[in-house]
Amino acid sequence: MAFKAALSALLLLCITYSVAANSIMGIDMGSQTFKVGLVRRGAPLEIVVNMHSKRKTETMVLFDQGSRFFGADASSLQTRKPLATPSMMSLLLGRDSSHPSVTDLASKSYPVPFSFNETRNGMEVEVQKAGLYTPEELMAMVLGHARDFTSAFTSDGKATRDPLPKDAVLTVPSFYTQNERVALLTAAELAGLNVLSLIDENTAAALHYGMDRVVPAGEKETVMFYNLGATSTQVSIVEYSSYTLKEAGKNKTVGAFEVKSKAWDATCGGTGFDDVIVNYLADEFNKQWKKGDVKEVPRAMTKLRVQAQKVKEVLSANNKIPIYMEGLHDDRDFKSSLTREEFEKMASDLFDRSSVPITKALEAAGVKIEDIDAIELVGGGMRVPKVQKALETVTGDKELGMHINSDESMALGAAFHGANISTAFRVRKVGMTDVTMFPVGVRLSSLESESGGGWFGKKKDKKKDDKEDEEAWSKQATIFKEFGKMGVKKTIAFTHDENVAVEVVYEESEYLPTGTSTDIVKYNITGVEKFAADMVKKGLGAPKVSIQFELSGSGIVKLLKAEATVEETVEVEVEEEVEDPDAVDEEEEEEEAVEEEEVSEEKTKEEEPAAEEGEEKKENDAEEAKTDDAEETAEDEEKVEEESKEEAKKETKKKPKKKIKKKKTKTIKVMKEQKKVHKEVLEIKEYYTSKIAPYSSTIMKESVEKLLELAAQDKIRHDLEEAKNALESKVYSIKNYVTENEDSLDAVSTSEQREELVSLASATEDWLYDDGYDSEKEAFISKLAELEAPAESMFFRLAELTKRPVAVQKCKERLEKMRALMTKWETTMEQVTEEERADVFDKIEKVEKWLEEKLEAQGKLEKWEDVAFKSSEVAPMSKSLEMLVTRLSKKPKPKVEKKNETEAEEVEGEGEEDNLDDKEEGESEGEGEGQDEAPAAEEESEEGDEL
Ligand SMILES: *[C@@H]1O[C@H](CO)[C@@H](O)[C@H](O)[C@H]1NC(C)=O
Ligand SMILES: *[C@@H]1O[C@H](CO)[C@@H](O)[C@H](O)[C@H]1NC(C)=O
Ligand SMILES: *[C@@H]1O[C@H](CO)[C@@H](O)[C@H](O)[C@H]1NC(C)=O
Ligand SMILES: *[C@@H]1O[C@H](CO)[C@@H](O)[C@H](O)[C@H]1NC(C)=O
Ligand SMILES: *[C@@H]1O[C@H](CO)[C@@H](O)[C@H](O)[C@H]1NC(C)=O
Repeated sequence: MAFKAALSALLLLCITYSVAANSIMGIDMGSQTFKVGLVRRGAPLEIVVNMHSKRKTETMVLFDQGSRFFGADASSLQTRKPLATPSMMSLLLGRDSSHPSVTDLASKSYPVPFSFNETRNGMEVEVQKAGLYTPEELMAMVLGHARDFTSAFTSDGKATRDPLPKDAVLTVPSFYTQNERVALLTAAELAGLNVLSLIDENTAAALHYGMDRVVPAGEKETVMFYNLGATSTQVSIVEYSSYTLKEAGKNKTVGAFEVKSKAWDATCGGTGFDDVIVNYLADEFNKQWKKGDVKEVPRAMTKLRVQAQKVKEVLSANNKIPIYMEGLHDDRDFKSSLTREEFEKMASDLFDRSSVPITKALEAAGVKIEDIDAIELVGGGMRVPKVQKALETVTGDKELGMHINSDESMALGAAFHGANISTAFRVRKVGMTDVTMFPVGVRLSSLESESGGGWFGKKKDKKKDDKEDEEAWSKQATIFKEFGKMGVKKTIAFTHDENVAVEVVYEESEYLPTGTSTDIVKYNITGVEKFAADMVKKGLGAPKVSIQFELSGSGIVKLLKAEATVEETVEVEVEEEVEDPDAVDEEEEEEEAVEEEEVSEEKTKEEEPAAEEGEEKKENDAEEAKTDDAEETAEDEEKVEEESKEEAKKETKKKPKKKIKKKKTKTIKVMKEQKKVHKEVLEIKEYYTSKIAPYSSTIMKESVEKLLELAAQDKIRHDLEEAKNALESKVYSIKNYVTENEDSLDAVSTSEQREELVSLASATEDWLYDDGYDSEKEAFISKLAELEAPAESMFFRLAELTKRPVAVQKCKERLEKMRALMTKWETTMEQVTEEERADVFDKIEKVEKWLEEKLEAQGKLEKWEDVAFKSSEVAPMSKSLEMLVTRLSKKPKPKVEKKNETEAEEVEGEGEEDNLDDKEEGESEGEGEGQDEAPAAEEESEEGDEL
């Protein structure tokens, strides 16, 4: 897919080019493996290939002697160090030990122990010989690895480099609640990523599916996405449509999609099939072994797990697999076999479960399977043939679509979403509407005053005692409903004169995953009491408190701001223009109204029908009147509104007045009621009281330090390995070079010299694998230097053998050319003086003399001796001379009387024309300019593309 963009955006992009992101990652973070999609300038949307040239990477870290290994490096060593190889960290993020996914993991003989830490309000993992880590830290390590190999991938010398990729969109399962999402964001922060957004896995897949598909105007297409991942099954029902957009005066049809429903089974996934096989194999081994339970031996179990994955794969294509494992445990080999039929019988429960979310999703969306136009299978777990059969029991004869690498669509969709969010890229327009499945509510109550109840300046009509006798003030409302859009803001408003305690909670819902705590976050809002007291002093009523919440595109609920306002009506004398009642005015106002609508549409961005907006406005106005009624909970809820719309409305109110004033009419003075608004921004304090909570700043600091220390350890190991590898490869390259170039080396060295070199290389090799094996970095570096010195000088002599005559010849030619030019200038360039030419001649001779001397010295040397001069020294000798000549060539002709600009230019041109005429000279001259120009042109062509 290529980038293509409108010209108008080009300029803007060029300006921000240096500061804006060069690339955006879409990281599909699976519990078992992950993929990175990438958007960068001048390249197609692609999957990043890791250091092992693979498109997916194991979500795993292996700790060994203070440093870490990732991906395939970790995976290939995990059977040796199962207790030091944590994986599946995404299952532990933001959860406690009783969460179904965590208990499920615990039941699967997962080798690394984990538990809940009350201090951290989260899980922690105990890595053998490496200590305790939070899932956030482990996830940060994996994300950091993703960033590292993306950096290597984007710095590969191709058109666009991005050595520090930072911007990313991460995928999350549909069932991730706030705690889990926040924990993943914390991990990303620890990894130094700038997360533009989270996106549901299936939504990302739906986006990728819809990227270059535009349903004809007026039509709809309903697609079901079925995603059997490593540890869960997720189904989304998505409706594709299109809308018309005016672009550069033309109507353009743009694709859009809306997620209608989501359903899942959080513990039914591909690894479940592995577990069935692992259990079978373990039981079989126990029968043969008869000495205990192999399930208690982590190393053997890890080997069985690796074996089980292979067995599952083979059984996808074959009916039977023989199993043989050498020395599985207790020096015993293991021999067994498994048929596909046996496997399918053992896993029947999983097959049954795998289709349930389809039924649930259809129900939630209120559609029947017949209404589904297409079924798309994504995710890696789909390779088991029986799964597809199980689906067919629900989907009937509907074709199950599975595109090549369908499990990459989530990473690619996520990257595209990131590019859409980022201002640095222009992408094709695709409208996306995702929904939340978890209804969110607020509970409001009066905040207990910290100073023991009494507060200064309180004067109310009602006695305080009376108030205390009343039932405590409280309100509740649902702010974000299930199936409600994500990426919206809502404001609730009520009349109140005390500080407010806000609890944000998940409302009861059949969709909320079992084991989810309903507490999300709490806030103390202060400043209301003092403000209310001030207003009482002014003789005004109780304040209206407005609290704005956001449900971000990442699915995270947050209180954005809170303020209190009191309206005061004052009488002021104003000058007013009185106009003749005239039809023109009405027309004018109508015109205005049209304009306003355009403004508000721009503002809301969401392009909602104007009618709906008007309706809501009416509702709100009605509400305004009722705000005094404290019991109006239901209305408060209704009053919930989108901030952007509110702003748009303000615009609407102001405009007509201005216009009317412009009329030419007489002015009179009248008393008018005006509204004055007293406003107070309230203080918000966020806190958590539930068992699971986001990272505190203390824990954050701890984690950052821990990760920095580990990174330092990794660097030491990395540098050591690099020094060792450099020495090793030098040994081989010297030996090879000497063997392969025996004949040509004979021209610059003696056979003794060559033998000496090879034996030095061999000695170094022996040292490398023997005494030197565990050496420090410095030892490798100095060994390399010892070996390099004699080799380099011999190889250099050989290279000079061909380079030298070329350099000498070229220099001589240049000198000749300059000499000829000087002679020519005698007649053609009278502005160059005799002295100047003499100086050039003189310098030419000096260079010639230097050259002769050097050649003579070289001629006296033996072939094995170091060179008398390097060929690279030759060119600079004539360079300064050439610059002098160039300067002279530009010397202007002596001024003629009637000189005007055109002529002056011509003179200069002449001079240049008469220049050395040497191509190389031209190159070196134009270099500065050329370099400036080339990248600019490149930039432009790259900017000109749209995804
Ligand atoms: C829990 O976490 C705290 C804070 O990081 C740590 O100091 C403590 O050792 C942990 N407790 C246990 C029992 O692991
Ligand atoms: C674009 O669409 C509008 C309304 O849908 C229509 O009035 C107009 O004629 C269309 N313009 C073109 C160029 O098709
Ligand atoms: C891209 O951004 C626009 C404007 O914010 C939004 O309307 C659209 O839904 C977004 N699409 C995607 C695929 O993120
Ligand atoms: C919020 O208010 C409650 C009740 O007064 C108090 O216990 C709690 O410490 C406050 N929290 C914060 C973060 O101020
Ligand atoms: C420059 O010289 C040309 C040719 O002699 C003449 O046509 C032109 O008018 C002159 N321009 C000025 C600005 O004197």
